[in-house]
Amino acid sequence: MITLGIESTAHTLGIGVVENGKVLSNAMDTYKPIGEGIYPRKAADHHSEVFVNVLEESLSKARVGIDDIDLISFAQGPGIGAPLRVGIIGAKYLAAKYGKKVIGVNHAYAHVKISEHLTGLKNPLVLYVSGGNTQILIEEPHEKRENKPGIRLHVLGETLDIGIGNLFDTFGRTIGLEYAHGAVLAKLAEGGTYVELPYTVKGMNLVFSGLLTQAEKLVREGAKKEDIAHSLFETSFAMLCEATERALFLTKKKKLIVCGGVAQNRKLQEMLRLMCKEDGVKFGVAPDEFNRDNGAMIAYAGEVLFKKYGTHPIQYWKPIQNYRVEMIKEIMRID
Ligand code: FE2
Repeated sequence: MITLGIESTAHTLGIGVVENGKVLSNAMDTYKPIGEGIYPRKAADHHSEVFVNVLEESLSKARVGIDDIDLISFAQGPGIGAPLRVGIIGAKYLAAKYGKKVIGVNHAYAHVKISEHLTGLKNPLVLYVSGGNTQILIEEPHEKRENKPGIRLHVLGETLDIGIGNLFDTFGRTIGLEYAHGAVLAKLAEGGTYVELPYTVKGMNLVFSGLLTQAEKLVREGAKKEDIAHSLFETSFAMLCEATERALFLTKKKKLIVCGGVAQNRKLQEMLRLMCKEDGVKFGVAPDEFNRDNGAMIAYAGEVLFKKYGTHPIQYWKPIQNYRVEMIKEIMRID
């Protein structure tokens, strides 16, 4: 079975091809806002402009034609309305024109499933960290007895305000970075020294806005940008470690995966790896290209779901901007 996956929930238009779990291609093109945040309309314009090129690149890298595709999978949400719709329209158009089956998948579910697959860690505790999301996830145990793939993801803890990636992007814009992206800020932070900042963990939940406000205030008052950037990473990552370690102890899980855009950060990987080593927990993280928003993970997750549960007619599928993982069963109409 060959599946084409389309990702368009935020700044990246990604199209990947997967054949029975094996990634054949993972093409992508990212809209980079300069001096501003993501404008939904501009992200949508970008995705519609590059759609055909990314599709052709994906098919040619996978050495398949559109006729070879059995299933078209698309990211159904959560995401930003305008860019999200470009991917969905593309998926439904291709499915209708070429007579393919189509399936919508939850973006967070896709990050979790591709990471489990590529790290070989099945049924782990998951720390999902990206621009818009920060969650500690677990699969409910009765799922395992039924021998079905995870559709009962449960949120143990999460951010109570902004996503951790949004914290870095917003701070980056405040200090005038031209391309305010976490990776650019991480480079600046390398030369900094630690300054104490607000630290807020509530059980397994997290709060980042006070940290952002104080960091911005200190920069306005003349603190060195690299010191505050460094301390922003140190503080927020320490918060993630505390909440995740609490979840590990409570659930008695012996495996941890980190996934999502911020999972690419080497400092975070190093802190989680050290914590897991001390706690006797196996730690896994997928290669960077699968922690970015990408089409291969959407193809992979669509294939997993389709093989177990089939799909619905093309008319059924529509975007869901606030699609939380707890809604998957209801949306997929799985008993
Ligand atoms: Fe993502």
